[in-house]
Amino acid sequence: MPNANRFAVVIAVDGPAASGKGTIARALAAHFGLPHMDTGSLYRAVGLAVLRAGGDPADAALAAKCARTLDVAVLDDPALREPSTARAASVVSAHPEVRAALLECQQAFARQPGGAVLDGRDIGTVIAPDADIKIFVTASLDVRAKRRQAETPERDYAVVRANLAERDARDAERDAAPLRQADDSILLDTSDMDRETAIARAIALAEARLAEKAALG
Ligand code: CDP
Repeated sequence: MPNANRFAVVIAVDGPAASGKGTIARALAAHFGLPHMDTGSLYRAVGLAVLRAGGDPADAALAAKCARTLDVAVLDDPALREPSTARAASVVSAHPEVRAALLECQQAFARQPGGAVLDGRDIGTVIAPDADIKIFVTASLDVRAKRRQAETPERDYAVVRANLAERDARDAERDAAPLRQADDSILLDTSDMDRETAIARAIALAEARLAEKAALG
C-alpha cells in the first residue's frame, strides 16, 4: 500500500542514458503518490534552445543564457526527444554555469513539503544528497541501445549504440557533477529484467529502505 505520507520522502533515481530510470522514477512517484521531475528534460530544453538560436552547444555563455531564461513551455515540446537534442543536452550539461542556473529549481522541487521523486545523473550526489532513497539504475550498453532503438525504430542499431556510448562517456568524464553512483545508493541493474520486473524490484527496494529507516527511528 502506498505509504509515503508517513513522512516526506525524497527519492533520487540516477543512471546512464536509456537505463530505464525515467520509467522507474514515474512508477515510484505513482506508487508513493509523490510529484516527479525528469531533470534530463531541463538539460534537453537548454540544448534545444541553443540549437534553435542557431548556436553551438559548446558555447558556455550562450548555453548559460538559455538556461537562465528557459521557457517552461518547451518542456512539452516533442523535439526534446530527438537524438540531436539529446546530444546537445549532454554538451550543454557539462558547463558549470548551466548546471548552476538549473540547480535552484531542482532543489526547490526536491524540498517541497511531502517529498518528491527526481531522476537524472546527479540527484543523489548533488541535487538531493540527503535523499531518503537513492537508486542507481543501470543496464548494459547493448540492452540500453536496443531499448532506445525501439523508441526510434527508423534508426540504425550501430548508430544508436554509438550515440549512447558517446553520451555516457561525456556524462561520466565531465568535471561538473559527473554521472556516478552515490556511495549510499542501491544499484538496480535491469539488463535481464523486463519493464514490469524492473518496476516491481524498484518498489520493493524502496519499501525495504523505508522500513529500514522507520526501524532505525
Ligand atoms: O533519457 P536519457 O537517459 O537518454 O537522457 P536524459 O535523462 O533526458 O538526459 C539528457 C542529458 O542531460 C544527459 O545525457 C546528461 O548529459 C544531461 N543530464 C545531466 O547532466 N544531469 C541530469 N540530472 C540529467 C540529465
